[in-house]
Amino acid sequence: MRAAFLRALGGPEQIEVSELPVPRPRPGQVLLAVRASSLDPVDALVRSGAFPTQTPFPFVLGRDAVGTVIDAGAGAEDLLGRRMATSSLGHDGRQGAWAPAAVVPRERLYPVPAEVEDAVLAAALHPASTAHLALHRHGHLVAGETVLVGGGAGNVGSALVAEAARCGARVVATARRRDAARVRALGAAGTVTTVDHTDPGAADQLRELLGGRADLVVDTSGRLDPELLADLMAVRGRIVVIAAPPNPPRIPLARLYTRDVSLHGFVISRATVEELADAARGTVRLLQETPWRPRITDTVGLDAARSLHERLDAGGIEGRVVMRIRA
Ligand SMILES: NC(=O)c1ccc[n+]([C@@H]2O[C@H](COP(=O)([O-])OP(=O)(O)OC[C@H]3O[C@@H](n4cnc5c(N)ncnc54)[C@H](OP(=O)(O)O)[C@@H]3O)[C@@H](O)[C@H]2O)c1
Repeated sequence: MRAAFLRALGGPEQIEVSELPVPRPRPGQVLLAVRASSLDPVDALVRSGAFPTQTPFPFVLGRDAVGTVIDAGAGAEDLLGRRMATSSLGHDGRQGAWAPAAVVPRERLYPVPAEVEDAVLAAALHPASTAHLALHRHGHLVAGETVLVGGGAGNVGSALVAEAARCGARVVATARRRDAARVRALGAAGTVTTVDHTDPGAADQLRELLGGRADLVVDTSGRLDPELLADLMAVRGRIVVIAAPPNPPRIPLARLYTRDVSLHGFVISRATVEELADAARGTVRLLQETPWRPRITDTVGLDAARSLHERLDAGGIEGRVVMRIRA
């Protein structure tokens, strides 16, 4: 089979697209005929080795997959012929999804409702699962709370806004003027307020809207000033950290701990099997119950694997890119 894989960690030049043997599922695993996958920011970190994880070579890239089960090991035969998805290939020793066939342990497979398209789910799983786990598993969101989302127009940020609004939160999101209407439309009328982060008065607007009242903050940009966040947090507020700039600013720990504010680091690569399954259900619910959709900006084939990673390294990817693998 023709696959996109690495023979060593490094730059995009390490990516090769050529023939590999079709893998065989072992007991408890299936072989998924992959129709759609996607490109995730974390793929660059796995490829380069910046996020250390097991990558047995030749190592197939790609985390998310939607397809049909075409072969099954003992104990997984009941899944044959079913349309399924997964969101945790391509790291932690598991071969990836940028191939026409991928082995998936059955506990990492999720059913796909008929009305959800392959490409939409492949593009949705990573950002929506991240949003789900950030809000619920790490953020302990409760209906009626006030949530600040940094980067509300982005892939993860828009999913955070939609999910928090769906759960009855009041949401304040940073988003440029050009994106504001799209972000506000992710929640029922009046539930989502936006502040343009490029506006020189953005910090003051956030203080006015939220000063001392933010129960939960998830900043997908990693750029919101920790001193500002300390002004915004409610007593017992939670800050879920999912991104950080190259030179993180000083964190005002004294101002945070004296308000019982907690900081929770979260990276989806460390989510458990149960958490990922819960997040996949959350992703489908988000697609079914809210207007949120992943913003698909490009659809490519396996031959684009290397150039996609070059664009990713150069910061040139906006929205979600879908990898179409089988017709
Ligand atoms: N921890 C995890 O498990 C996990 C999982 C998935 C993703 N991530 C990380 O999460 C981050 C976001 O990913 P993504 O795919 O959602 O990226 P994205 O679509 O590019 O979203 C980032 C958003 O941040 C906004 N932004 C940029 N500078 C800002 C500032 N100074 N203040 C407020 N907002 C600002 C951007 O808006 P403009 O460009 O319009 O300014 C954009 O809407 C990445 O660092 C990614 O690696 C982490």
